[in-house]
Amino acid sequence: MDLESLKKEAKLEIQKAKTIDELESIRIKHLGKKGSLTKILHSIGNLSVTERPKVGQLANKLKNELAESIEEKKKTIGKGKSYPWIDTSLPGRKSNTGGLHPLSILSQEIQDIFIRMGFSVVTGPEIETEYYNFTALNTPKHHPARDMHDTFYLKDGRLLRTHTSPVQIRTLEKNSPPLRIISPGKCYRVDTFDPIHSPTFTQIEGLWVDKNISMADLFGTLDSFAKNIFGKDVKTEFFPSYFPFTEPSAEMWIECPFCKGKGCSVCKKRGKIETVGAGMVHPNILKSLGYEGCNGFAFGMGVDRIAMTKYDIDDIRLFFQNELQFLRQFNDSKL
Ligand code: PHE
Repeated sequence: MDLESLKKEAKLEIQKAKTIDELESIRIKHLGKKGSLTKILHSIGNLSVTERPKVGQLANKLKNELAESIEEKKKTIGKGKSYPWIDTSLPGRKSNTGGLHPLSILSQEIQDIFIRMGFSVVTGPEIETEYYNFTALNTPKHHPARDMHDTFYLKDGRLLRTHTSPVQIRTLEKNSPPLRIISPGKCYRVDTFDPIHSPTFTQIEGLWVDKNISMADLFGTLDSFAKNIFGKDVKTEFFPSYFPFTEPSAEMWIECPFCKGKGCSVCKKRGKIETVGAGMVHPNILKSLGYEGCNGFAFGMGVDRIAMTKYDIDDIRLFFQNELQFLRQFNDSKL
């Protein structure tokens, strides 16, 4: 057979082939050990010296061309139709997707509630100066909160912030009233891990400064927050408290969602759980930062504690152990 008719024949066969098996027989028929083209290539030696290189070149070119056409055709043949090396009965390999940490999920949920009330989100540094963490927050030099036992100090005198309240000062410095911000972030205190303590935890700070803001505004805002997080029937109570940077100061307690106020192990038989520290921004702070004639309220809450109450988790350490079984419960995706 001459090269030209072999080419035509093979091309037509490849074009008509419907399965990988058919293509394989075509390959064997023409390019296999005893294939038609292979035979031609082997017989080149019988040709005249002048013809040899010409025919050899053409035959080799055709060999490559046919091999390529067969490969190309293989790719266009339907997936899985005839791939003997693929075991379609095997279960597929699952690709795992990650999920958000429960504290990130809850922190975002809390932020969304305040965003709906008109607050904007700002952040501050985790390494702070004594000035922002204490002094500017009306916390005197000898205050026990400054003690080395409570605060991680750096060699250069700076410290790891013990609360998100320094962001209040940073925001007041840079802006002018009216102001309505929340600030989520990590805080640090010298605590050893136990079921309710961790040297690192997440807080969300809130600050609203304007004219004629009252305690009623503070209570209303926090009550609305609690109802959004724990359900509309949750009961809130406010008690007097003390923080150097608020006057008067208050704390919000919610009725224990597990025993409905009867007293159980979650609320340590108290029937209620402390949830937020708050108060009216201390006049000293407003005055020193040029906010005379304004007033406002501030609050701070621990996201870890709220998560423990909301999800009935009795050990804060679970948030830091990265156990997939624990973390999976908070995500739809199967991690
Ligand atoms: N910073 C306080 C704490 O860490 C909480 C707080 C914030 C209280 C703002 C009052 C106002 O406990």
